[in-house]
Amino acid sequence: MCGIFAYTGKQQALPILLDGLTCLEYRGYDSAGIYIPESGVVKSVGAVDNLKKKIVLPMPGNSGIAHLRWATHGEPTEENAHPHSDSSETIWIVHNGIIENYKELKEMLLTKGCTFYSSTDTEVLAKLIGYYMEEKKDFEKSVLAALNDTKGTYGMVASYKNEPNKIIAARQGAPVVIGLGNGENFVASDVSPILRHTKDVIYLLDGDVAVLTPNNHTIYNLQNISIDRKTEIIEWDIEEAKKGEYAHFMLKEIMEGAEVVENTIRGRLIVDEGIAKLGGLDAVAEQIRTKKRIIIVGCGTAYYAGLVAEYMIEEFVGMPVEVEVGSEFRYRKPIIDQDTIVLAVTQSGETADTLEAIREGKRKGALTLGIVNTVGSTISRETDAGIYNHAGPEIGVASTKAFISQLTALALLTLFLGRQRGMSSSTGKMIAEEIKKLPQKIKEILDKKEEIQKIAKKYANSRDFLFMGRKYNYAIAFEGALKLKECSYIHAEGYGAGEMKHGPLAMIDENFPTFAIVPNDSVYEKNISNIQEIRARKGKVIVLTNEDNEEIRDMSDDIFIVPKTVEMLSPILNIIPLQLFAYYFAIERGLNVDRPRNLAKSVTVE
Ligand code: G6P
Repeated sequence: MCGIFAYTGKQQALPILLDGLTCLEYRGYDSAGIYIPESGVVKSVGAVDNLKKKIVLPMPGNSGIAHLRWATHGEPTEENAHPHSDSSETIWIVHNGIIENYKELKEMLLTKGCTFYSSTDTEVLAKLIGYYMEEKKDFEKSVLAALNDTKGTYGMVASYKNEPNKIIAARQGAPVVIGLGNGENFVASDVSPILRHTKDVIYLLDGDVAVLTPNNHTIYNLQNISIDRKTEIIEWDIEEAKKGEYAHFMLKEIMEGAEVVENTIRGRLIVDEGIAKLGGLDAVAEQIRTKKRIIIVGCGTAYYAGLVAEYMIEEFVGMPVEVEVGSEFRYRKPIIDQDTIVLAVTQSGETADTLEAIREGKRKGALTLGIVNTVGSTISRETDAGIYNHAGPEIGVASTKAFISQLTALALLTLFLGRQRGMSSSTGKMIAEEIKKLPQKIKEILDKKEEIQKIAKKYANSRDFLFMGRKYNYAIAFEGALKLKECSYIHAEGYGAGEMKHGPLAMIDENFPTFAIVPNDSVYEKNISNIQEIRARKGKVIVLTNEDNEEIRDMSDDIFIVPKTVEMLSPILNIIPLQLFAYYFAIERGLNVDRPRNLAKSVTVE
């Protein structure tokens, strides 16, 4: 949600800034802008390509700041595009987050004679820094003073025309990473644009302010006291964050499915003993043993991973599980005590509502755990312990490989918890063996992707779609519908098959197709009846199953067959054809799947 990037060093800043923005494009594409102290500012509506067209070369300078906007305050216009400046137009800032007290700050600044050109909260912060500059005549002190007046969230970078080599970055509630190079330093919202320059990074914590010049970095807190932050080395490879041979990140990331499961389970599965070894939970293993219930919190796709986990854990561990979206959990009065585990599931580790849910859990004495993909992210740091996904960077806005990895990690967690609490070693072995076989089965599905492409082509003119599943695949119906909505902007609903008669069946006619997720499991017969009910209303049915028989072929307009696995793991296989379906459906309609309109990859505002 908004991407910020900055550079100070010895190279020409312009290509580095544009390249950084291109890497961050998944965070926002409502508008883009750059500021290079020696050359000035350029802004445009839309994404980086539009910005490039507006740039008049040469634009010399060895430092600069850049921004991609996902609009919160004010429409996506050029006036509202970042960077924003103070009244003297010598200080410019880029910002990700929301300045909550911007109205009162703006009123104060208006009385001091400031004129505002945009309707953004960011311009208020820029003008406030300028206001302090008049009095303090010191860039660092003025930034610090302004931040001390500010309530809300920010990941921000400021640049000053008269000290072109210095950039100041600050963090409060929105991610900021510093990249430490040789004679050059970087700032970004996440590591992806930094990786091509350096693997040495510092994650700023809330309240940190970093002052960077090409050869130096110093970090202060808001009280201007210098602090030490650890340098970390990023393991991700730059190639992982590139599209490679694929037309889109979304397809590339779906096609990584088998590898992603391998990476998530690597070193963690001891099949002979039927156990999962989760190093990240070692330190709290004994505490976990004493807990009585689990609350899983996530947003979007991560929430649906949590719903699947509820079924896994309750069936195989016997612990009560509740699953909730972060934005509900944090605003009601959830019952949490010291017997509770609050488990966050999150790809980015930065989703504002999930983060607040974890903080709320902590305040109430719960043990907090995370299943997080982004190493070093806020949630990974603030939870007591956790499991990293090791899925590699996910760039496609609609989450695909991270979901596969989340389900796999949750299956490992189920095994871990189950074996702590009475799951037999034979059941443990059975689950471990089946988890181990997943990568091969995923490959088999991906090898048949053209079948899904054909089906997507056939239905690409549909305006509505229903996804129906039961039990373990109940959440997969929601996730299948979510993928289609995100990528194609059509009306898609996920429904529990048993709920069809309570409403959705009324919508079904020959123009309202259904994707029925029907593995041959403990609810197979029930699902078959639901398919019949749809067909009796002339509804078209695409069947997704692991059973190939005449009966099911007869009742399907189209069919896709996945390999068999145990019921609890079937969501991991079933979601892949649905992800591919959403991808090809959107491609058929000529849409940019990597950048769905109005959405952003990481939702760092409430
Ligand atoms: C956004 C993304 C989704 C993602 C959700 C939660 O909506 O577009 O793909 O599932 O945020 O993100 P998280 O990083 O917490 O998993």
